[in-house]
Amino acid sequence: MRIVKRVGGWLYDRSRISPIVQALLSHKIPPEVGRSRKGWFYVFGQALVFLFLFQVVTGTGLAMAYVPAPAFAWDSLRYLNEEVFWGAFLRALHFFGASAMILLTFVHLSRVFLTGSYKFPRELNWMSGVILLFLVLAMAFTGQLLRWDQDGVWTVMVAAQFAGRTPLVGEYLMQLILAGETLGGGTLTRFFALHVVILPLLILVVMGFHIYLVFQNGISEPPRAGRPVDKESYRAWYAKLVREGGSTHWPDAAWRELVFVAFVLLAVFAFALTLGPQGPGPAPDPTALEADPRPDWYFRWYYALIWLKPRVLDEVVLVWFPIFLGLSLLALPILFPDGERAPSRRPWAVFAVGMALLFWGTLTAFGLRPHWVPNFETEPLPAEQLEGASAGAREGAQVFFDRGCQFCHQVHGHGGIYGPDLTAATRRMPPEEITIRTMIGVRDMPAYYEVLTSEEMDRIVAYLRWAAGGDE
Ligand code: HEC
Repeated sequence: MRIVKRVGGWLYDRSRISPIVQALLSHKIPPEVGRSRKGWFYVFGQALVFLFLFQVVTGTGLAMAYVPAPAFAWDSLRYLNEEVFWGAFLRALHFFGASAMILLTFVHLSRVFLTGSYKFPRELNWMSGVILLFLVLAMAFTGQLLRWDQDGVWTVMVAAQFAGRTPLVGEYLMQLILAGETLGGGTLTRFFALHVVILPLLILVVMGFHIYLVFQNGISEPPRAGRPVDKESYRAWYAKLVREGGSTHWPDAAWRELVFVAFVLLAVFAFALTLGPQGPGPAPDPTALEADPRPDWYFRWYYALIWLKPRVLDEVVLVWFPIFLGLSLLALPILFPDGERAPSRRPWAVFAVGMALLFWGTLTAFGLRPHWVPNFETEPLPAEQLEGASAGAREGAQVFFDRGCQFCHQVHGHGGIYGPDLTAATRRMPPEEITIRTMIGVRDMPAYYEVLTSEEMDRIVAYLRWAAGGDE
């Protein structure tokens, strides 16, 4: 025991670290954060620092076995899943650690936004936080490709194609992502370098700056309605508040952070134990175009959005929307540097967060179903729905199902929605038009002239007429 103490004392003395430790431990915080329940709103950032370290540790473990080459990547993950002691668990921890990190990043961002903590003098805290947000998302995006399965590869493929549509720089952007003209070994190596070296280093640097700012500017005090931020007097007022409040980060706030970190860690372990690792799914097969590119849950909403938007909005959704979102987040503290911070006095801020949640939730729910590809699991229209239909229409329903129309088209709520709903098609266009469009094909729909007999086509038309409630 004594030797430990002596070695410890020696290190402490020779490293001259005591003033730094002292400063950290006695860092003053607003009394309400230290001693009231409002302190629980101030634990998310700390948990994110911890999760980042957790990801570094689990990720390093994975990198010991992972082979970043197209011929071996997928196999090395299978190997981890099946042969390595705790390998599957490690993969699961890394995946759910990442999920927790993304979730908490948005929780942290929303908290800071709702309490107006981005206002003077903490503008740079916010801006560096926004950069961290994009870095974290980039980590998630690059990590997904490393799985080198159908979903991961196609997700990046789709993303690269979107990037390719950016005006002026699209071509370069696409080559930058793919590391060449097509997705292949170069892409994998590039994503590996980004995921394990470049992005983590960037996160480390920006995170260091972010935390430095938190110490320099102090933790924002919980807002109160009718106490707006005034640039002239705020710093002096804040200094007085923390000086006289007498709360210090350790232990007044630190214990809450530790409890919350323990809770997050338990949750990640629980998910990893019960759900296991994510994939790898089927190995990528460049010839299997009907692969259903399903990005991990955190990007589903965006894929759903891309899928749902009308074609004319391509450029708006793919290019301008993310740029606009990023720039407005960055500009927020410049546009609203002072004034009221309390959510009760900023109804628009609360409304914005509510709308964002609703938007995200709806799109995610939609994205959980595979819609941007034909729905191969569709069931034939139930018999009771066909009641009262003529024999021709019934046969038509069967042809419509057998010939795969239903993979892409809905009728009375059954079928995929890759193509337009055809329930009321005969009211939109004359039957001849339906026949012509089906036989010669429309943009994203195959031509059927060599597939369907004209009797079959007639039956389909009879079915669609019945479906539209018309006479057959
Ligand atoms: C691979 C998916 C797919 C399959 C299978 C498919 N369609 Fe389509 N269909 C589409 C898409 C996508 C469109 C819209 C084309 C566009 O506007 O670019 C479309 C459009 C149509 C239209 C025009 C509808 C309108 O409102 O403009 C008709 C009619 C139609 N399909 C009938 C059929 C029939 C009948 C079958 C089966 C024999 C069939 N489709 C099979 C994807 C498909």
